[in-house]
Amino acid sequence: MFNNQFKQIAIKAATMLLGVSLLAGCTPATTTTTTAGTTASGTIAATTTAGTTAAATTTAQTTAAATTAANDSLAKIKAAGVIVMGTSPDYPPNEFYVLDANNQKQIVGSDIMLGQAIADKIGVKLENKPTDFQGVLSNIQAAQVDMAIAGFSYTEGRKSAMQYSDGYATESEVGWQGILMSKTNAAKYTSLDQIKAAKLKFGAQSGSVQQEMAAKLTDPMSLKIMGTLDALALSLNAGDIDALVISTDNATNMLKTFSDLMILPKETFNLDPENLYAQNVVAFPLGDQHKSLIEVANEVIKAAKADGSMEKWRAEALELAKKAVE
Ligand code: ARG
Repeated sequence: MFNNQFKQIAIKAATMLLGVSLLAGCTPATTTTTTAGTTASGTIAATTTAGTTAAATTTAQTTAAATTAANDSLAKIKAAGVIVMGTSPDYPPNEFYVLDANNQKQIVGSDIMLGQAIADKIGVKLENKPTDFQGVLSNIQAAQVDMAIAGFSYTEGRKSAMQYSDGYATESEVGWQGILMSKTNAAKYTSLDQIKAAKLKFGAQSGSVQQEMAAKLTDPMSLKIMGTLDALALSLNAGDIDALVISTDNATNMLKTFSDLMILPKETFNLDPENLYAQNVVAFPLGDQHKSLIEVANEVIKAAKADGSMEKWRAEALELAKKAVE
């Protein structure tokens, strides 16, 4: 994180220096012209100076444009023949593992199908880079991946760290932000206020919006943040934590595996009633060089929504999720 911030600051500083040296390089020319202009007439001098400055700006802009073109993510991806995608495969039906015919773990899911469609559209291979969710966030910020699809919710807060595609799925249509608990514990609570007063040991996935929500439900000391949802589910089932904030769409497998767990009723315990976190988006690193790639992703999303692919992928992923492994 710090390294990355430092890197960004260093890049900014270097860019500024470059700008300064470009201008500095122009100074003698400007001075000469101005001097010549002044000799002829004051008015002309002003015009000439303005003209020269405009020309200098144009040169700077052209240089910037050339740099951007050379850096263009889409062009680089095409040249490499591969697009690298960050994802966190603990999240059925979006992304999860299944075993293939050779008992090898494969990453599958509706997000992976979308990633594949983006790769197909560009005409390159899709390479998944799996990490825990926090790792996906870090990799996007450090531009270690070209894009990330990991059930990312659109949030205003993350905009300073990444860019988004248009929304590709609306979570509120399939699930909501809720609380997972043992049935025995669940029977004790009839309101969110009671839950807050109990200062429960609340679990949530590191870096997720569920972490933000859990932080509002208990003391900082009682917050149990872990890397993967699999670890959190095991912990909850073992009684090491009391409750888990979760997107209900992604809890189906947990409920099946751990029959003593349940989701508290939506009427009373919906943690995002205004659906602030309901839009799922593809994430990209910051910077204009990713613009053309984002445009391609948006085209794919638009087409997949319109022609029913998105729904088809979800149905296929739900089917596959029955065979999910950790
Ligand atoms: N939607 C939530 C967020 O953006 C959680 C995403 C978790 N994704 C995952 N693959 N585990 O913070």
